[in-house]
Amino acid sequence: MMDIAQLVSVALYSPKPDETVAFFHDLIGMEISHREGQSVYLRAYEDFYQYTLKITEARQPGLEEITWRASSQEALDRRVQAIEATGLGAGWTDKDYAHGPAYKFCTPDGHCMKVLWQLDYFNAPPDMKSKLRNRPSKRPLRGVPVRRIDHVNLMVSDLPRNRAFMQDVLGFKLREQKIGDGGAEVGAWMSVSPLVHEIAMMRDATGATGRFHHIAYWYGAPQHLLDIADIFSERDVRIEGGPAKHGTTQAYFLYVFEPGGNRVELFGDTGYLIFDPDWQTVVWNVANEIDLEKSSIWFGGQLPKTFYRYGTPVVPGHSLEEIGR
Ligand SMILES: [Fe+2]
Repeated sequence: MMDIAQLVSVALYSPKPDETVAFFHDLIGMEISHREGQSVYLRAYEDFYQYTLKITEARQPGLEEITWRASSQEALDRRVQAIEATGLGAGWTDKDYAHGPAYKFCTPDGHCMKVLWQLDYFNAPPDMKSKLRNRPSKRPLRGVPVRRIDHVNLMVSDLPRNRAFMQDVLGFKLREQKIGDGGAEVGAWMSVSPLVHEIAMMRDATGATGRFHHIAYWYGAPQHLLDIADIFSERDVRIEGGPAKHGTTQAYFLYVFEPGGNRVELFGDTGYLIFDPDWQTVVWNVANEIDLEKSSIWFGGQLPKTFYRYGTPVVPGHSLEEIGR
């Protein structure tokens, strides 16, 4: 089943929308494509659609919605039927900016999503048009500009149930997983394309439901992580981990917190790609110390406690300050 084709966009809440938008615009070079009400829509310079990130003012940071694109109108209709059969569907909408009719639903954990076929491509005005015909807009001059959206990572209270929803109802393939003490599933990396993941889910150690871990934008070159880390350090942007390399996915990464409190990952190179149609899920046994260490960090230091307990919205007792480093 290949009814879901790709990740289109992620909509986030921010209690400091102006500062959040400035982070994405000024430091990692994203372009603002639209403003509407309390929302700002942005895209990276090699994102082909009108936007891949929507920031909306709210009291708490966190996830509003993730949008997926189906591979055709027929594929969309098939997925809507499958979602409706689970009882998790929330109906159609055609009110969202730059998006055609979309079917809304939430995962069992309560992360809201929608799936669509029709949407608007970005059409660069003359001053943004690239002479590179396969690039939808010029490379910006601000900060160290990211190239495209890569993936999203969610925290879930019940990993098997939510992982199974992504596989059975939406058709994602389980590419890698982490199994902890007593055989408990603690992490799942899933994709519908040769990327190792468009979505990951990790067990929320606080027991909370429906929280957001991070959105990742892609550079394609690890050197850019060093350059942007230098800029972040000059401007007091809190780096949580990296630049370093994960064992899981083999990707070069850097984690930071945008001013609204959401975690953002910057991806160096993608790691490896999967072309095998009979891929066997890679299993890390993180009850084993070597797998635990090597899956999280192949090289480049440690991930702090915050990485495993901090998510948005923040739950009582688990703010960055309360968790500590
Ligand atoms: Fe990630």
